[in-house]
Amino acid sequence: MKAVWRFGGLAVGCAVLLTAQPLNRLTAQDTTAGKQVYQKWCAGCHGESGAGDGVASKRMIPPPRDFTGAVYQIRTTPSGQLPTDADLLRSVDEGLPGTAMPGWKMRLSDRDRRDVVAYIKTFSTFFGDTAQRPQVLQFGKEPGGGTGDEALRVGRQFYDSIGCRKCHGDMGRGDGPSAPTLKDDAGHPIFAADLHQNWRFNGGPTTSDIYQRLRTGLDGTPMPSFSDLLEQKFLTETELWRVAEYVRSLSPNEAPVVRDVIHAPLVTRGLPRAPDDSSWKGADTYWFPLVGQVIRKSRWFAPAVNGVWVSAVHTADSIALRVTWDDRSQSPTPDWLGHVGRVLATLQADDSTAEAPALWPDQVAVQFPVAIPVGMERPYFLMGSPSNPVYQWRWTSSSRDAAVAGLARGIERFDSLPRSGVAARAVYDHGQWRVVFTRALASSDTASQLPFRNGRAIPVAFFAWDGSNGEHGTRMAISTWYFLALDQPVPARVFISPVLAMMLTLGLGLVVIWRAQRKTSYRRQQ
Ligand code: HEC
Ligand code: HEC
Repeated sequence: MKAVWRFGGLAVGCAVLLTAQPLNRLTAQDTTAGKQVYQKWCAGCHGESGAGDGVASKRMIPPPRDFTGAVYQIRTTPSGQLPTDADLLRSVDEGLPGTAMPGWKMRLSDRDRRDVVAYIKTFSTFFGDTAQRPQVLQFGKEPGGGTGDEALRVGRQFYDSIGCRKCHGDMGRGDGPSAPTLKDDAGHPIFAADLHQNWRFNGGPTTSDIYQRLRTGLDGTPMPSFSDLLEQKFLTETELWRVAEYVRSLSPNEAPVVRDVIHAPLVTRGLPRAPDDSSWKGADTYWFPLVGQVIRKSRWFAPAVNGVWVSAVHTADSIALRVTWDDRSQSPTPDWLGHVGRVLATLQADDSTAEAPALWPDQVAVQFPVAIPVGMERPYFLMGSPSNPVYQWRWTSSSRDAAVAGLARGIERFDSLPRSGVAARAVYDHGQWRVVFTRALASSDTASQLPFRNGRAIPVAFFAWDGSNGEHGTRMAISTWYFLALDQPVPARVFISPVLAMMLTLGLGLVVIWRAQRKTSYRRQQ
């Protein structure tokens, strides 16, 4: 009995200790331990003194946060106020998607993350000032019916009337009339978010994340808070939720998943040569992420195109491949020269030669090997090498309805081929390029121009340049190798046999039942 009591007491004591622990930690956050975590994991970007000037800081846009100003984007507090500890912890845990700021939940212990939050607060005197206690806003709950037509119509109406389109553009791709002029508070270039890519929202992708950002604004950036419009009764909370729901509806239901193989089905109604041809509707669309080219000089750390959507179809003798990507500008355009200047001034890669802003076009390249490889061997993904070239299709916005084909022998050398037979058609539509490449499957020049074949996995890779972001030459966005497969028409018997099999089983079943019934009725009759 005594032993049981003792054991019980111990359990209760443990439970008290366990539940009390997080509270203790919050009050006694150990800034000395936090400093160690900070110096090891954060200072490389945010700088020893927290001023956002770590060794890596000149290689990213947006640059790392300067903690000495205590201006934070992701808050649950009104614009102009400090964040809560929970807000800071959330940014440290989840990171800021769409920026270089990683999430630390999986890499650092609970304790380390709390300690480092306590430490970054010491970079600013504002956090010590008790008069500056942050107040958490009441966000309420999302009203019902948020995905219905009426909710989206109301959301769209306020999207227009409260000025979102000025920065984010008519279709929300970040291409509004003010977009080329935007800067953060420190004068760095900043893009108005592409509202079709919610998986890159700094504060999270959900409708309620979006609503919170509309209430709080992203302090330090041009993205304002809209809470004062509620106070002025210009719109209701429900209507502001509708705006958030409308914004959410612009992105896919799920963040795109990268699949390795582009399936190009056989189409019988003729090859779609234009980007908006209705026969594209029958083809799947695949997402391929792109990253900055940081392998060869001159490197590029801030690519504007972060991925391409690709579809492909083929007929008995030709192939069409459509590449679609969001781009805020139709380059070359003088409107964006100021932005290019700010980008070049912000990025100082070790190897950058000081460059003056110029009028560069937008470009895209689709890359294949020269011949379908036999094993897993493929040329170097970054545009081949002098001894092992790659076959590429290239398009630029300075001659929209044309493409060149050629051999790249490394990133610096591209030799175009005569009689390439590659055609292109392009449209620019509210912040999006859609380019269709077409070619015959066969090729008269099999030595350097890949012949396409059914049923084989053909390596393919993509490259993109946004001229109005300062991208040209080796300064571009790149992908790794993926595959393209020209699907063979499925032989008719594959469809028939399961049906036949089903009918046979069904037929047999009926016979068995019929027999059984006959037997019982026969017995009953007796
Ligand atoms: C690879 C570079 C990098 C590293 C390493 C890094 N950060 Fe960041 N961090 C950034 C960038 C870039 C931003 C700014 C993003 C923006 O402005 O949208 C940022 C922003 C932040 C913010 C501001 C969030 C807000 O609401 O504005 C906090 C807090 C932060 N980092 C904490 C940390 C901590 C703590 C560590 C170490 C555990 C760390 N960071 C490590 C790059 C980095
Ligand atoms: C003056 C220009 C401007 C206006 C007006 C504006 N935004 Fe923004 N918005 C921005 C900028 C710039 C960013 C990117 C901030 C960053 O990258 O840190 C942004 C970011 C966002 C984001 C992404 C939030 C996140 O977590 O990263 C959303 C969503 C958004 N805006 C929606 C809206 C909506 C809806 C409206 C109208 C109610 C609006 N914006 C009005 C400039 C603007």
